[in-house]
Amino acid sequence: MDLLNYHSEFIAHLHQQDYTRTPKNLYEPIDYILQLGGKRIRPILTLIGADIFSENFKKALPAALAVEIFHNFTLIHDDIMDEAPLRRGKETVHEKWNLNTGILSGDAMLILAYQYFENYEPVIFQKLAQLFSKTALEVCDGQQLDIDFETKNDVTIDQYLQMITLKTSVLLGAALKMGAIVAKADEAQAQYLYDYGLNLGIAFQLQDDYLDTFGDSKTFGKQIGGDIIENKKTYLYLKTLEVANDADIKDLISFYNGNEKNNKEKIIAVTAIFQRNEIPTLTKQLIEKYTNKAFSCIEKLLINDEAKMGLRQLGLNLMSRNV
Ligand code: IPE
Ligand code: IPE
Ligand code: MG
Ligand code: MG
Ligand code: MG
Repeated sequence: MDLLNYHSEFIAHLHQQDYTRTPKNLYEPIDYILQLGGKRIRPILTLIGADIFSENFKKALPAALAVEIFHNFTLIHDDIMDEAPLRRGKETVHEKWNLNTGILSGDAMLILAYQYFENYEPVIFQKLAQLFSKTALEVCDGQQLDIDFETKNDVTIDQYLQMITLKTSVLLGAALKMGAIVAKADEAQAQYLYDYGLNLGIAFQLQDDYLDTFGDSKTFGKQIGGDIIENKKTYLYLKTLEVANDADIKDLISFYNGNEKNNKEKIIAVTAIFQRNEIPTLTKQLIEKYTNKAFSCIEKLLINDEAKMGLRQLGLNLMSRNV
């Protein structure tokens, strides 16, 4: 299992596509976001899913592209909803163009994503479309909960985990399962791979939340402290409410209810509260817990040891990422 090889095969396939169509104001932002880079983790997962259950992972390239285009569509709309200025170290689409462009180019990307399933025979097409539609709706559910939680003061850690499962993890699970579907894998086996992806996805979003506060903007490519500005009820925030003393809890709640107008001051103060309550360590522990849950799903897979090692290595790589 060679992750770099999947990556370069995917990039080569992406470059074969041509999104320089008219109207320019609709398609240029699509080309822009797709060429901005990113880890390409979801299409790589689709290729992995196909590779471990078949001889020819390249058959999964159109499905991999569908997943990446869908993901990039969600990023454009997510950046509007989160009022984010930076994505992959560059201006977000709605900042570089405008809000309407972000909305419509995003809509077009969702349709483009579906079109790639037309490359498959009817039985595979139907299975892919079914899984994809279910997953895309779950992502919408998760995104709505994420926004609702910004102004909700009694969010529990369980509710947070459910929210990140929906907004992020289901897509990682589906990306893997789509590869398995293209490879015509046994349904139960495909589901075990999905479960691995689901747990990996929870660890992945926890790591994203960690990096949003404790990452380096140069490598992370997003505005550090964005979640704090937006009052996101992340694990960092919720765990602090569980472990901190009354004074820290009172301050944190007051920061998240709009008492600080200066974002810079707010980020510094909230980060300090997280730090002195050992939230970085506690978050890392939960990331490890979900990565280990993902690893236990690997055991049920009837695949060779090399493939199992590959899935394990991927989990370890993601856990230590700073991008
Ligand atoms: C960002 O996804 C959105 C989340 C679900 C955390 P990635 O971290 O995969 O972003 P890119 O595609 O690598 O830029
Ligand atoms: C995004 O979660 C999940 C989706 C895009 C569906 P975040 O809002 O944390 O993602 P980033 O940090 O902006 O990439
Ligand atoms: Mg965001
Ligand atoms: Mg968001
Ligand atoms: Mg984030």
